[in-house]
Amino acid sequence: MADDYLIEVDDCIKRYGGVVALKGVSLRVRKGSVHGLLGENGAGKSTLVKIIAGIVQATSGTMRFNGEEIVDADVKAMEEKGVFLVTQEPMIVEPMTVADNLMLGRWPARSGFVRDRHMMALATSFLEEANLDPRRLASTLSVVEKRKLNILRALHSGGKLIILDEPTTALTMADKHQLFTFMKQLRAQSVSFLFISHYNEEILEICDEVSVLRDGQMIGQGQVVSHLDSSALSEMVIGRDVHLFKRVTDEAKGDVVWTLRDVRASGLSVDRLDIRKGEIIGFAGLPGSGAKELGRAIYGLMPSARGFLDESGVAHALPRDPAEALRTGIAFLSEDRLRDGIIAIQSIAENMTLSSLPAVSRFGWVSRSAERQLVEKFWRLFAVKAASHAAPLGSLSGGNQQKVLLSRLVATEPRLVILNEPTRGIDVGVKEEVHRLVDDLSHRGVSVIIITSDIEEMLRIVDRVALFVDGRISAIEPAHGLTKEDVFEMAYSASDRSVSASHQPLH
Ligand SMILES: Nc1ncnc2c1ncn2[C@@H]1O[C@H](COP(=O)(O)OP(=O)(O)OP(=O)(O)O)[C@@H](O)[C@H]1O
Ligand SMILES: [Mg+2]
Repeated sequence: MADDYLIEVDDCIKRYGGVVALKGVSLRVRKGSVHGLLGENGAGKSTLVKIIAGIVQATSGTMRFNGEEIVDADVKAMEEKGVFLVTQEPMIVEPMTVADNLMLGRWPARSGFVRDRHMMALATSFLEEANLDPRRLASTLSVVEKRKLNILRALHSGGKLIILDEPTTALTMADKHQLFTFMKQLRAQSVSFLFISHYNEEILEICDEVSVLRDGQMIGQGQVVSHLDSSALSEMVIGRDVHLFKRVTDEAKGDVVWTLRDVRASGLSVDRLDIRKGEIIGFAGLPGSGAKELGRAIYGLMPSARGFLDESGVAHALPRDPAEALRTGIAFLSEDRLRDGIIAIQSIAENMTLSSLPAVSRFGWVSRSAERQLVEKFWRLFAVKAASHAAPLGSLSGGNQQKVLLSRLVATEPRLVILNEPTRGIDVGVKEEVHRLVDDLSHRGVSVIIITSDIEEMLRIVDRVALFVDGRISAIEPAHGLTKEDVFEMAYSASDRSVSASHQPLH
């Protein structure tokens, strides 16, 4: 019945110049349900939800919300009706506190006093669980904390339809669990969700129905999730089941090339870590445990850090800044695409070659043909989807921006690579390509450090896992034979007893 549906989109077309992002799409979301939206990078997911939220106007098509025809509504009009979108990139007012940011999205007049108090209580408990101090200034939050605040704001909005565009990237298991619990509580109060994710297991866990976009077309609308499994989802998204990449590790490998010694910074104290030529090592740990921090220190992003990074037995102080790190042969993929990564208005080609200008320059001039060759190579390798090499990076879908950043990093021909959340926002098919690329880099002698909240992914591609607790490395274990549960247990149980942590049993 039509009044079962909160949102009904019909024949939606969206053109961006010559690019047709949506080619006549229809979507129906039931009241009080969690509806998954799936599809490859560039399939049109973000475009569709931006249209529903009034951020982008459709070229043509119709939309009904709660049975009412919506014409020319902007964000404010849609928020007043109860539609909230949490985008892929955090939108936070930095000079305001966490509590003030939380209030921004609220429309108390709509939600009614009792319900409102109930929401407030839920949100406060979530803030506590999420370890976010309401009095903190938003500018001091990490990327992940900002993301959590954004999600909270939407959940707290009193809205009827909450849209989450890849909300879980870089969240810990505990955060994810909290988010899903909160979503279920709101669903029981007949709030609906549109949920975009590249993780099949999340779709299977939280969604009631799922719709799949492929190349701007809806190829499966409102499929009941309880009838599906992970391979069925992958088949719908990329037209085939994914073959999960698993690195074949060779324990007795190359010589130790990189040695970290006596690294000290606030909250970080690492006496020694040896990394072999061509080794892939994972840094795992809870937020603030030092895993991310050590990665930043190695790339010169923690100016207060002191210590050594020796290469082949030659003593070197840690790089003082990223420029020095790059000259040393170190490359870094940031988890914060917008802050440290992309130059949105520059073209894809310029962004890809930005860090490797010396390689494509002769006597200070950028060689256009060298640049073109390099761009061509990565364009094909990662199946970048965009109008042309000259398209501004900001016009690409989230996953395609990540592919360009990875290309830029590999193009610098580094000897040590630090990857933060490397497959962030990348679809299930290309994720495996990225794993193969990293494996391939290692076979060419590049040492790789991977820092990701996706422990399952980490265990498939690394040789060893270094576990961080309270700023120290508490254990280093071969990945072979470790399970996700082992790693969590080590991270959580050891955080209470960091002194004896180096002797923690694995099970
Ligand atoms: N502002 C824009 N200008 C030009 N083209 C755009 C713009 N925004 C999106 N596109 C294009 O529309 C298509 C769909 O992009 P969209 O962001 O909706 O994909 P997506 O399914 O969300 O992908 P991802 O999983 O990578 O986030 C892409 O080809 C993209 O390049
Ligand atoms: Mg998107």
